[in-house]
Amino acid sequence: MGRLHTSSYQRLATRFPELAIKPRLVVAADPLIENQQAAVEQYGFEKAVSSIDEVLADPDVEVVSICSPNFLHRDFALKAAAAGKPFWIEKPMGVSDEESVEIYRAASEAGIATAVGFNYRHAPAVEHLKALVASGRLGRITNVRNWLIADYASSEDGPLTWRYSTERAGAGVLGDLLSHGIDLVSYVTGQQFSSVTAMTEIFIPERPIPTKMGVGHGGYEIGDEVGAVENQDYVAALARLDGGAVATLESSRVARGDRSDYAIEVFGTEGSARWSFFRMNEFEVQIGDGGLEHGYTTVLASGGHGDYERFQPGPGIPMSFDDLKTIEAKQFLSDAVLGTTEAPSARDGFRAATVVEAMVRSAASGRWEDVPVVD
Ligand SMILES: NC(=O)c1ccc[n+]([C@@H]2O[C@H](COP(=O)([O-])OP(=O)(O)OC[C@H]3O[C@@H](n4cnc5c(N)ncnc54)[C@H](O)[C@@H]3O)[C@@H](O)[C@H]2O)c1
Repeated sequence: MGRLHTSSYQRLATRFPELAIKPRLVVAADPLIENQQAAVEQYGFEKAVSSIDEVLADPDVEVVSICSPNFLHRDFALKAAAAGKPFWIEKPMGVSDEESVEIYRAASEAGIATAVGFNYRHAPAVEHLKALVASGRLGRITNVRNWLIADYASSEDGPLTWRYSTERAGAGVLGDLLSHGIDLVSYVTGQQFSSVTAMTEIFIPERPIPTKMGVGHGGYEIGDEVGAVENQDYVAALARLDGGAVATLESSRVARGDRSDYAIEVFGTEGSARWSFFRMNEFEVQIGDGGLEHGYTTVLASGGHGDYERFQPGPGIPMSFDDLKTIEAKQFLSDAVLGTTEAPSARDGFRAATVVEAMVRSAASGRWEDVPVVD
């Protein structure tokens, strides 16, 4: 994610030139010396250090990206807020709702702009789904289906990285993937979660312990020793939203086959629409009765859908995941420099955390659990 934030800043000048914001890559922090070297020699940072404290103490640093493992987010965000430096933080914002509210409060009290890495909302097709719902053309929204099914942890030989520790990562797939889904459901419908019931499972209870620190999901050396997976591989949930709609959500990090199948379907009294990350540049829609042609029509993303035309010269040409991050960088810096309120904020990060926590409570209690109102 650090690499992706970096390239997103670098692309701003060509994708959103009218902002006249030209980010300067002043300093990168990483404890691994090879990552520090790469930051300077390959990614274009002026210098690299081992600690965020050196980053925040640098008077040339005006904003920061927080792309570390989850258990460092809270400390880094609180320090950035104390230094009055707007931050773009990866999801999940904290490892728990308590950490997330601390981050949200610190940013609010400091009066700084924030952005959280809920990148799927920036897909032009998703932006258009949101606009369709808001326009009323789908009628009253009755129900929503959302799923994020991935395979990144499907190998039993996958190393026991920080991602499998409750203290270091939080609630596993609930924070890692489903937080994206929770944000998508709220963003597209304009409704917040009011109550949830959930079941969770750990399908691969033990994994090999790494012998050396690495990056990514598999970039670690492993030994013969195994350790326990503490957080969830799978979640299935039902939810009630405060505007009257209901939702089903499902997420797995250990499902072979689909690799990264992320989707949202919205059903209303007058029509329905759906989007899948598999086909990020399309959405399907059916409005009205349709008569003998009732059924979804596939629409290709084009100018007029979100920020599509910033990236591609003509309709039907695919965008990529990286482009969503460039849009996020643009929203963050526009909010930080120009005072707009475009990016998914710390408030959204905290909201998603309260839903995750209610699902964790429900999985333990076997009951419906209320989601506290964030205000
Ligand atoms: N938005 C998305 O779709 C998305 C996708 C992947 C990851 N993420 C999030 O991004 C964050 C990072 O994930 P990742 O996959 O890049 O993890 P990673 O383990 O691949 O990389 C983490 C990096 O942080 C560095 N690091 C460790 N301790 C540090 C410290 N004290 N100070 C500075 N750097 C430190 C590591 O050396 C490594 O370079 C996580 O919060 C994750 O949930 C978001």
